[in-house]
Amino acid sequence: MPKNRIRYFAKALATATMLAFAGPVWADDVEINVGWETPADSKLGILAVKFKELVEEYSNGTVTVNLRCCGQIGSEETAFSAMQLGTVDAFLISSNNVSPNYPLMNVFVLPYIFQNPGHMAKVLEGDVGRKFADRLQQETGVHLLAYGGVFFREAFTIDTPVESIADMKGLKYRVPQNRVMIETADAFGAQPVALAWSEVPTALQTGAIDGSDNGLATIRDMKFYEFANHLIRLDHIAAFVPLFMSDRTMQKLDDDQKEAVRRAAAEASAHQSEIIRKEEEQTRQWLKEKGGMTLYSPDTAPFIERAQAVQDQFAEEAGADFQALVEEIRAAAE
Ligand code: MLT
Repeated sequence: MPKNRIRYFAKALATATMLAFAGPVWADDVEINVGWETPADSKLGILAVKFKELVEEYSNGTVTVNLRCCGQIGSEETAFSAMQLGTVDAFLISSNNVSPNYPLMNVFVLPYIFQNPGHMAKVLEGDVGRKFADRLQQETGVHLLAYGGVFFREAFTIDTPVESIADMKGLKYRVPQNRVMIETADAFGAQPVALAWSEVPTALQTGAIDGSDNGLATIRDMKFYEFANHLIRLDHIAAFVPLFMSDRTMQKLDDDQKEAVRRAAAEASAHQSEIIRKEEEQTRQWLKEKGGMTLYSPDTAPFIERAQAVQDQFAEEAGADFQALVEEIRAAAE
């Protein structure tokens, strides 16, 4: 081959190599449907909307996120197994509604296991939370992309003021289909009524239940204050609503797209977390002033005492892994 032809091919090869390494090479375009069960503009919506914006930016538009609020693509109770099957891409599910599919999650649902939101954030954002997410993925195939903001559930009742634990007696108290929460309501003296999340608005409207609990933002987002007159600060059950993704969807992404999704999830979670933290007290005041709710802060000591028995019961029956995690959470409080 003449020398000038060899030089030409060598130059062409060098240019092609440079182009190949000049920037990320994106895989095929992928669409992801992200579902949740509260309204579009609720606190869960804030995380989902930010996730969409950031995923689309970080993936150079090769990953599109479709927002599916309001139970359009499933419910909190069915979405986890749907992600295991790969029929749902991604969903925001409250920790307590994950437990029926992954019982170890109940460690985080134990009443009064966390002393304050800072303790909860420290556990979830630290080593314990990272190890837990890895383990959940290995054991279920579902990816926990981000924990989302943390908060405590607060009790509300339609007609019954709760000034002390004695006032809980006999209340028809809605709990999710979660054993820890059923046992906790029972230990507090209420009559637990286990209902799916989607059934709560009707149960409140018809008076089938006397009360329940949720995060403050959810009580506002779902307009529960229209039926419930009393807001009772118990801070008894900690909660967070992680963003999960099915492995089937994850495997459609190349490495750069996976990185874009993980980074977007972490940042969207931090964004939502900041808003929840900043607005908590404002939301409580909103529920009082605009929502017309009366606020109560009963002495929590008797609630904590009874909760201890529930913690011990679950730690005893759930086995060594569960107990080890309980110990790690307690240690993080010190
Ligand atoms: C429930 O009460 O079932 C859930 O916590 C709902 C939610 O807030 O996502």
